[in-house]
Amino acid sequence: MNLSGKTALVTGGTDGIGAQLVRQLRAKGAAVITTGRNAERVAATRADGFDVIACDLSNREGVDALIAGMSGRTIDILVNNAGAGADHDFRNPGLPDAGAADAAIFLNLNAPIHLITALMATLKSRPEAQIVNVTSGLAIAPRAGGPVYCATKAALRSYTQALRYQLKDTNIHVVEALPPVVETKMTAGRDSRKMAPEECARQIIAAMERGADEANVGMVRLLQRVHSLSPALARRIMIKF
Ligand SMILES: NC(=O)c1ccc[n+]([C@@H]2O[C@H](COP(=O)([O-])OP(=O)(O)OC[C@H]3O[C@@H](n4cnc5c(N)ncnc54)[C@H](OP(=O)(O)O)[C@@H]3O)[C@@H](O)[C@H]2O)c1
Repeated sequence: MNLSGKTALVTGGTDGIGAQLVRQLRAKGAAVITTGRNAERVAATRADGFDVIACDLSNREGVDALIAGMSGRTIDILVNNAGAGADHDFRNPGLPDAGAADAAIFLNLNAPIHLITALMATLKSRPEAQIVNVTSGLAIAPRAGGPVYCATKAALRSYTQALRYQLKDTNIHVVEALPPVVETKMTAGRDSRKMAPEECARQIIAAMERGADEANVGMVRLLQRVHSLSPALARRIMIKF
């Protein structure tokens, strides 16, 4: 897809990978609408010239507010990027917060499904359109410490694959972006090697331009290769990650 002249809605563009996606899409000539929650980051992103709809996508009301904010607007590209983890490790003292798990499930899975549904008509009306769902290398095989997060990403990966097949003879191409560990606030405190968010966004956008089905970013390319040879080995490596 030639991104120049296209209009994209990118969720979670006020920080991390999304903040780089919106900048790089703009540099390619796309108009960008984005979202965020944190008031300071929303204000800073607006000051940078972006159209930002402030909303919390971890519940139905917030998603409905975004859908209402998009009413009457036409887009060519929907990037479901906003996402977060939930502490859910029974090896730690105390019980995990099941409410936090619900919020992560809504943000990572329900929100993309609602947005795709609400924006399908506008995407279908364009000559060429894309839906980009940001999952994770952890959608291929889970790590023990993040079962809720990994489950949401595996579910979104499955949804994305079925959606791509449904839409294969239409104007809408469905892309899955699978980042590795990236240096953002989500991975603060983790001491593994982390990719810069600029490079992660660059690889996702290159896949969008190529019209690839998947953006397997950085080490995720290797993980895909291991998984295609031995899913059991991929699971053994990732579970301790
Ligand atoms: N970082 C990694 O290593 C990594 C690896 C694989 C996949 N991913 C995926 O990549 C995507 C981006 O992650 P990131 O690391 O860039 O995260 P991030 O730095 O935490 O940024 C997330 C963005 O999403 C927004 N967001 C978070 N919770 C939200 C909520 N409840 N409602 C609305 N917006 C919300 C944030 O806005 P506020 O700051 O205003 O909340 C921010 O703009 C996510 O889907 C994540 O799962 C990340």
